[in-house]
Amino acid sequence: MRGITIAIAKGRLQAETLDLLTSAGLDFSSEMRSSRRLAVEDESGRYRLIFVKPADVPVYVEHGIADCGVVGRDILLESDADLLQPLGLKIGACRIVVAARNDAPLKHLGMLRVASKYPRIAARHFGARGVTIEMIELSGSVELAAVLGLADCIVDLVETGKTLQENGLGIIEVITESTARLVVNRASYQLKAAAVGELIKSLDDAIRRRASGD
Ligand code: PRP
Repeated sequence: MRGITIAIAKGRLQAETLDLLTSAGLDFSSEMRSSRRLAVEDESGRYRLIFVKPADVPVYVEHGIADCGVVGRDILLESDADLLQPLGLKIGACRIVVAARNDAPLKHLGMLRVASKYPRIAARHFGARGVTIEMIELSGSVELAAVLGLADCIVDLVETGKTLQENGLGIIEVITESTARLVVNRASYQLKAAAVGELIKSLDDAIRRRASGD
């Protein structure tokens, strides 16, 4: 591939990421945007996008299969991949919170059962407070664990707050905020410096134009 390969996180960030890349000058047909293909090139042939699960974006970029990636800070906090993070993209804003059932206050004695798909963030958070936890690792629909009593609380992502609300859960504490980042493979940053630099500049310009309402 002579151009740049960008790993895109499928799911909640995907549409916003493609909108931002389009604002930055990448050119995708509407068929491409709605296709189920997992690797596509933009019209110029200078950019190839690959669509992967959010947690796999750091893996593809660290191994150099993708030169760059777009992924949430929440995922990066869970990953130990060695990546450059040259740009915050100001999309995908959400919070990582501790939440529990509104009708079951957190107990303060004994071991706390915590369910999450963010085991590292959860362990760091409670570890820093000296709270001993039993970590129950799940891969989705984490709210159910608190609703059904599998866990005393959850550590999960909140965007609109609708999922918590509709399941009778409330936020106990905000652990951290998250937005999407551009991540870059260390070797690509050197070996494809001109092309990567051009992408960073185009994205930065697009973000500034959006912020000023142009
Ligand atoms: C995330 C998160 C919450 C929900 C929060 O799950 O884990 O369940 O979105 O969004 P809201 O605050 O806007 O309601 P996701 O949709 O990524 O799917 P998952 O349950 O499979 O993890």
